[in-house]
Amino acid sequence: MTTAFAPGRVNLIGDHTDYTGGFVLPMAVHLGTTVILQPGGERVRLTSASESEPCDLPLEVGDPSAVRPAWGRYVAGVISETHPREGGQGIISSTLPSGAGLSSSAALEVAVALALGFTGSPLQLALACQRAEQNASKVPCGVMDQLASAAGVAGHALLIDCTTNDIRPVAIPGGVEVVAVHSGQKRRLAGSAYAERRAECEAAAAIVGPLRRASVDDLGRIDDGLTRRRARHVITENQRVLAFADALETGRLKEAGELMAASHESLRTDFGVSTPVLDDLVAALSGVSGVYGARLTGAGFGGCVVALTAPGVLDSGCRLQAVGGACRLET
Ligand code: GLA
Repeated sequence: MTTAFAPGRVNLIGDHTDYTGGFVLPMAVHLGTTVILQPGGERVRLTSASESEPCDLPLEVGDPSAVRPAWGRYVAGVISETHPREGGQGIISSTLPSGAGLSSSAALEVAVALALGFTGSPLQLALACQRAEQNASKVPCGVMDQLASAAGVAGHALLIDCTTNDIRPVAIPGGVEVVAVHSGQKRRLAGSAYAERRAECEAAAAIVGPLRRASVDDLGRIDDGLTRRRARHVITENQRVLAFADALETGRLKEAGELMAASHESLRTDFGVSTPVLDDLVAALSGVSGVYGARLTGAGFGGCVVALTAPGVLDSGCRLQAVGGACRLET
């Protein structure tokens, strides 16, 4: 019997920067997805505690995005990227809410890949699962979610350079809590709007070069106002990620909180991925004494807000623990 667990992630800062080779600072969280599998046979048969229909797939899958039921697309994406030698029969359970922006699909992919015997490095696992996600959902996502799940470090967030995929663990200091508060809004339109944003960033990069190396001084070379705003978000967000990592490591929590607020504002105005519900929640949380900062986390368009707080100041939401990366156990 094989048991695989993959954590979800919360992104502390650095959204919509990964697919332009920028910086992100996610943290693998104690909520995640478990697959218990009896390996063997030529098919992958999985039931999920949260889905009414099971998925039953051959080891050769054609187009993962056409698979039914829809949740099986992620499994199909993993099968077609990792080419498992044998199938298996198993059950999936998850403590991650779906559509919350905590990467339930990445956790599913990573857990399924490990349960089916994937043996590469955490980075190889993440890259295979990123391709699986792209093929399953047709959303041109970056690598942040899968890499955070595969390579988490207990007690730390991960400063990831998405050009080199180098990871520097950044300790979460004592005396702070990372809290996810659900907006109650399931993410909508995230797929098509995400692809649009990515294309807009590529249009900006075609003018000023890789956004990771560009500066705000380059923005004047972008004539189109929308493209310029998208680029401004990415360029300033990359700076905020590095400044936030530094502030966290040296315990400058007020400054870290201000950077979160600036990140949310940039995602709202320049990048256009917030919603009024998320904005109201961020404003309400930011007004609570003991909250250093709050921002939307992940792709946007609904889901969770992440807050950095002094201990015990919020009675709503879920306190997230930073955990190690995905793992597999044979029994
Ligand atoms: C989704 C994607 C990630 C990243 C975030 C936004 O979670 O899967 O790759 O782009 O959105 O930061």
